[in-house]
Amino acid sequence: MERKEFLRTLGAGAAFALSFPCLQGCSKEDGNGGNIPIPTGVDFTVDLNSAEAAKLATDGGFILKDWVVVVRNLQGSFVAASQVCSHQQYDQVRFISNDGGIFYCDVHGSKFAQDGKPLNQVDSSQPKPLKIFNTELTGDLLRVFE
Ligand code: FES
Repeated sequence: MERKEFLRTLGAGAAFALSFPCLQGCSKEDGNGGNIPIPTGVDFTVDLNSAEAAKLATDGGFILKDWVVVVRNLQGSFVAASQVCSHQQYDQVRFISNDGGIFYCDVHGSKFAQDGKPLNQVDSSQPKPLKIFNTELTGDLLRVFE
């Protein structure tokens, strides 16, 4: 089914909601959609045997915790980055498997390498790196910290 056909089957309201998801703001947390503070002072542990970590059992899986995207990359290593985008600080950064595994924000399409390096330019401003956090695995406990 083509995208247009799919949207038509959903009706105008649903098609609008799918096409323009951020007009009313992307964050339920701050209400204004952007300008969410980049997380600081991050230091938490995830038990890889816990339910919250279930998606980290698979290469390419990720979870969101305390404004951080915690990822098991396509090589099986753990990496972590700010869930808050460096562009206009929406909380929409996620991990996608494209291009060997990158961080992606769908608000304006910013892409970042796993070391936080910007991979594209979404407007005329100089792209800023995405904040990256350290990870340390001890047994089944994954620590994420600055
Ligand atoms: S806020 Fe993420 S791309 Fe603009």
